[in-house]
Amino acid sequence: MRPRIAHVVAARPNYMKVAPVFAALRSYDVEQALVHTGQHYDANLKDVFFGELTLPPPDVELEVGSGSHAEQTARALVGLEQTFARLEPDLVLVPGDVNSTFAGALAAVKLGIAVCHLEAGLRSFDWTMPEEHNRKLADHLSSLLLTTAENANENLAREGITDGVMLVGNTMIDSLELARDAATELAAWRRFHHEPGGYVLVTLHRPALVDDPGLLGRTLSALARLAETLPVIFPVHPRTRTQIDRLAVDVPAGVQLTPPLAYTEFLSLQVGSAAVVTDSGGIQEETTALGIPCFTLRANTERPVTITHGTNTLLGLSPERIADVPALLAAPMTPRRPELWDGAAGVRAAAAIASALERIAA
Ligand code: UD1
Repeated sequence: MRPRIAHVVAARPNYMKVAPVFAALRSYDVEQALVHTGQHYDANLKDVFFGELTLPPPDVELEVGSGSHAEQTARALVGLEQTFARLEPDLVLVPGDVNSTFAGALAAVKLGIAVCHLEAGLRSFDWTMPEEHNRKLADHLSSLLLTTAENANENLAREGITDGVMLVGNTMIDSLELARDAATELAAWRRFHHEPGGYVLVTLHRPALVDDPGLLGRTLSALARLAETLPVIFPVHPRTRTQIDRLAVDVPAGVQLTPPLAYTEFLSLQVGSAAVVTDSGGIQEETTALGIPCFTLRANTERPVTITHGTNTLLGLSPERIADVPALLAAPMTPRRPELWDGAAGVRAAAAIASALERIAA
């Protein structure tokens, strides 16, 4: 019988990470199933991506939806256990750090199924972040841990995990390289009436920032001031939209709000931007690969290579520091691409998974 893999996806950043691995595994004699937990369910956080990336539509769709962390994780755990019991995969792949990542790893391991964590070993060392719980627990449940950077291997070694750890590079950068030409050609900045290099792109969605009305209000004021010199395009995540509506703030004319965008369109806006201001993890990596300056509104990052090699600057959870962006942009920058962020990480990940499946079968 052909070995079987179940990939678990749940939220927007998962698709770009899994797509290159799924595509590369097509060269092997394996059966693949894509399971979507439904943690993200809005069409513009979900359906729109399947047409754009090399990912087929999900084979299984659960309806986990929103809720408290316990509710969302518990619904994913139960749904995924039933799904794995039915599909009987030999290996379950979980990407990233969302609640469904941890649920998928736990459901699989309880059924005696091997777990592969894609993007293993990242640590912010901030135990208040839900993502830190999810990635750390998923790592400790996994037997194959595919990492994006050397420091992730070091983090895992410090926690006693050395077996099954493999540095394959960043599969999200594979997706970026594949879409880069189309994104440049799309010139999405034109829709917003800007020239390349003539605007700042903003994304904010982390509870630590957007669920705090004081911080969110100060951030919007700081963006309004920045927009007086550099216009701002701000695709708004549903969580952030709710909070902006609750605050009933007047959004100034220089700050253009838009609903969440599709992958190529968002990438296009990154390519054409003067800089990005964000609290996202993945965007710190994409801007590093693109050589676009990134200013991160967080006190820490689980992706330090974006600072040591890339274009990332931590502003802290201090909205007032957005005022420094024009001056920081004037300083020269000589970013380097992190090792193995070369567009071929999916191929290396697929080879590692195929070897793991051979060991399981033996
Ligand atoms: C989740 C992940 C986060 C990831 C982010 C990417 C966890 C703990 N968090 O955060 O790591 O960076 O996704 O976007 O797993 N909502 C909708 N439509 C949707 C999904 C959510 O309107 O399709 C609303 C819900 O009302 C919810 C809010 O957005 O209250 C936040 O969604 P949630 O899934 O809790 O977390 P994210 O902030 O998206």
